[in-house]
This record gives sequence, C-alpha cells and structure tokens, in this order.
Amino acid sequence: MNAPPSPPQPAPGTDHYVVLGNPIEHSRSPWIHTRFAELTGEPMAYGKQLVALDGFATALAALRQQGVKGCNVTVPFKFEAFAAATRHTQRAELAGACNTLAFQGDEVLGDNTDGVGLVRDITVNAGVPLRGARVLLLGAGGAAAGVLGPLLDEQPRELVVCNRTAAKAEALVASHAAHAKSQKCELSAQNSQALEGVFDVILNATASSLGGGDVPAPASVLRPGALAVDLMYGPAAQPFLAWAARHGATGRDGLGMLVEQAAAAFELWRGVRPPGAQVLAELATRLSQART
Ligand code: ATR
Repeated sequence: MNAPPSPPQPAPGTDHYVVLGNPIEHSRSPWIHTRFAELTGEPMAYGKQLVALDGFATALAALRQQGVKGCNVTVPFKFEAFAAATRHTQRAELAGACNTLAFQGDEVLGDNTDGVGLVRDITVNAGVPLRGARVLLLGAGGAAAGVLGPLLDEQPRELVVCNRTAAKAEALVASHAAHAKSQKCELSAQNSQALEGVFDVILNATASSLGGGDVPAPASVLRPGALAVDLMYGPAAQPFLAWAARHGATGRDGLGMLVEQAAAAFELWRGVRPPGAQVLAELATRLSQART
C-alpha cells in the first residue's frame, strides 16, 4: 500500500509561525501573514493550531522545542500568553494581555498589537485623526483593555469608556489614568444607562451583538458624520454598522484592525513593515466574493 502523500515541506531556511486559539478554524491570520511574506519576500511559513482549553502551556513548550519563531494568540488565551512571556512591550504591559509572542532564545517577548492595529486602521486606512478627537469606547472587557493604551497615545481630547457593568469601566479608567494624564487626555467612565455626550469616533468593543443584543449606546452619541468602528467583522459587526448607517455615521468593521494588528506582529518578528492597506483591500475583496 502506498504511503499517504506528505504535506509540502517548506524550503530550508524558512521560519515558522503559528496562530493559537480555540476556536481557530476560521482564522484569517494564516492567509494574511502568507500574503505579507509573499509581498515582502520574507522566508516564512504561518499555520494555525487549535489548542485545548487547558493546553496552552503545553502547546507553547512544544512550539519552542520545534524551533518555531513566534506565534499569535487569540481568544481565550491572551491572558495566559501574557503570563507566559518573560518580557513585555510597554503596550502589552498596559493591556495585561498578549496577542503576539516572539521566541528569542530563552526569552519570550510578549506584545499586544491589537491597539496599534486599530489606531493605524482608523488614522491611516480610514484617514480619520484621533488627535484632539472625542472618542467613546463601548465595553470594558479584554478587547477594550487591549486597545485603550494605544488610543491614548494618539492624544484624543476626551475618551469615555462606557460599559454595562460600570465598575469594570471605572477599573479600566483607573488603570490607565496616569497614561491619560501624560497624554493630556480627559479619560472618564460612564454608565451605559446614563450615557451623555457627542463623539467623533465611537468604538464598539462589546460582545453585545454576539448575543443578539442591541447596540449598547443611544444614537445621540453620534456626531453627524462620526466614524463608528466595530472591533468585530463579518456578521457579528452588522447590527452595529447598520445602526451607524441609520443615524448618519460612517460605519467600519474590524477587518482593517485585524490586518493591521497582523502587520504590527509581522514587523516585530521580521523587522519589515508589510503593506497593510493593500492586503486589507485584497482580503475584503476575497470575503465579499466568498459571500456572493
Ligand atoms: P472580550 O475579550 O471580547 O472583550 P469580555 O472580556 O468577555 O470579552 O468582554 C465583553 C464585553 O462586552 C464586556 O464589556 C461586556 O459587558 P459587561 O462587563 O457588563 O459584561 C460587554 N457585553 C457583553 N454582552 C453585552 C450586552 N448584551 N450588552 C452590553 N454589553 C455587553
């Protein structure tokens, strides 16, 4: 009997990377990083790996033994990834969570590129400045914590964190108070039941649409022509985008953030900046063709 065909072997000298998560099946990261590698000529291969909910440490040890150079980490392992890192970038330290690890000899460098990815998508790809803007961040869970530091780095005039559970918004604001002060940003928490103010940029970092819930903010928060970004993409972002469009705002989903957080991870690993906007346009086209 013939042996089953073995998978194609990457060329010698190819560095390996992987994204770890649970679930992981629908991750776009392998496609994005493979495209970055093609466009920059970097000799690397990138795969995905489903990790058992109690298996993160074991999976990480195995990757390091295999000589893998680094990994991305997605739900629900970002906090474990932070704990596994021996050194952290400042933005990972502020977020308390990592989406990117680089294996550097005995050290594991932990980074969090979600926030810079979001900021770059807003300021470069969408062309909307955050400096001096009034920004509303809906949610105070892991996704919100991951982006708050880099948002403050842009020096918005005002940033309000609003969450269903007010105590979590207050805790997130407290942990970023010193950073906000150094950036001259007025940072505060508000309760979703009594949300006030009008904002230039509204960011949905809640999981409300996953449970079929309403957008957790009144339409009065939207300045006419405001930018309203959902950190999710695909069907999960649709209720928020439809709400934004109904009320005269420009909606944007999280696909750009996804590509730009990957670009920042790629740059950390390879020292080369890949063309995020080009790959975002290609990915958006692929996804819309897949839907038709
Ligand atoms: P993630 O890592 O995606 O941020 P999380 O840490 O569980 O996930 O946080 C989910 C966020 O969505 C929280 O801000 C949560 O609000 P609570 O802190 O009050 O739980 C918010 N969220 C989830 N479902 C919601 C809903 N139906 N309405 C409003 N906010 C919701």
